Amino acid sequence: MKGILWSRFLLAASLCWGSGAGLALAAPPEAGPEGAVVHGSANAITVNGDAIFNHVSRLAASSRVAGTQNEYNAVQYIKGELEKYGYTVTLQSFTFPKFTAPSSIQLTIEGTHGLASQQLAPQALQNTQGGDVSGEVVDAKKGTPQDVKGLELKGKIALIEAGQIDTNAKIANVADQGAVAVILYNPSSDTPILDTQFSTLSLPTVSLSGKDAQALKQKTAANGGPRVRLSVQGVAAMAATSYNVVATLRPNTTTTTSDLVTVGAHHDSVSAGPGANDDASGVGIVLEVARAVGGTQRDSEVRFLTFGAEEYGLYGSQAYANSLSSTDIGRFIGHFQLDMVGSKNSGTLGMYTVNGQKNVVTDLGATFASRLSGVIPYGRFGRSDHVPFYQRGVATALYTHSPAEPEYHTRYDTIDKISKDKLANVATIVGNSVAEILSPTTPSFKRYKDFFTPVNYPYDPNPPV
Ligand code: BES
Ligand code: ZN
Repeated sequence: MKGILWSRFLLAASLCWGSGAGLALAAPPEAGPEGAVVHGSANAITVNGDAIFNHVSRLAASSRVAGTQNEYNAVQYIKGELEKYGYTVTLQSFTFPKFTAPSSIQLTIEGTHGLASQQLAPQALQNTQGGDVSGEVVDAKKGTPQDVKGLELKGKIALIEAGQIDTNAKIANVADQGAVAVILYNPSSDTPILDTQFSTLSLPTVSLSGKDAQALKQKTAANGGPRVRLSVQGVAAMAATSYNVVATLRPNTTTTTSDLVTVGAHHDSVSAGPGANDDASGVGIVLEVARAVGGTQRDSEVRFLTFGAEEYGLYGSQAYANSLSSTDIGRFIGHFQLDMVGSKNSGTLGMYTVNGQKNVVTDLGATFASRLSGVIPYGRFGRSDHVPFYQRGVATALYTHSPAEPEYHTRYDTIDKISKDKLANVATIVGNSVAEILSPTTPSFKRYKDFFTPVNYPYDPNPPV
């Protein structure tokens, strides 16, 4: 049966690349001991590191905050490039709640008994409510239903320790008892908590460093905690429009499978900087892999995707995943997600799944990597656009380098930190994994375990951040 022996002979030749010269994935067909023909290698693709770098450079000329003209310009650039390669490209628009961070936050311990008032250094949590409230501080422990049961919180400000249950649930629990604001802290953290909240918080909520919070907590131990005034100004949440770019390439062979594979990255950035690595790098690879795959023989369908509004809470990938029919979901082999894939200052390449388990996307990546630059590990990490695919039952993994670079989400995430070699390496691994799924020399990848033996690859217990 065709393909049975393919994995034993595929790509016996080594893979190499060099910046500028483009990537060669050279694998001359060989006869195995049983005389089988090497399958798959005919579909090997070559990517160009310079081309990827140029895309990243173009995109990272400015920030690309979702819902802004800059994002739309990036979308037009991506669409235009994909059309040059012969793709049919559509834009999927969607709306999302765009949160504007407070312009000012003040937390003051009100002076009592002739003592001077004291200013603290709070941080607002994303999606906090605005407001100006004052009240007594009450230690609400971890804000679990047991912790707050019987606590007198009406008109008061709850001091809550992080952990155990979801932040939104903690806030809801104290709000039920009448609290008017929340101060959150992690006792072992030197800095205020800055975790991302996916939905609107129901009260004005700020965080303090462990040290500041402990000091405040000490004062609450005495009867009648200190009175504080919390002012959170300039908060806004407005509906905004963002776009996903969807480029489809249908099979070009007479015999086809119904298999579907997708490759994605997010084109939006944070406002702090131009997001050269986060995630212009991923978009650059999506574009170059799309170009290279256009020249292959394919018996299956591939879609290249770039998502908007990832940084506000995975809104673009959520909109895309939700728009997939159950028929399309059933056709999926996998989704390859590329996010932060080219920094000189990050660690080594890994593949991260939502549940920490291997799947076809990691099996292929590890196997091609082992033939190119050495085996890569898999681990567990969410926080990018693979999550909504996972939630719809699609096998998916995030390709990224771990640990993340120190420039992550700062104004220093710029083109001068981008490594052409890292981009080219990731593109070759992912590009050839995708080309393998598409190859007419392999049967449907639904049953890949019948004809493909992945290499062994290790578990990475340390997620990127
Ligand atoms: N690119 C990051 C996720 C990431 C971080 C990947 C570090 C690899 C290493 C992504 O754009 C991001 O910032 N995600 C948010 C979560 C999202 C749901 C808003 C995050 O991690 O805070
Ligand atoms: Zn990102």
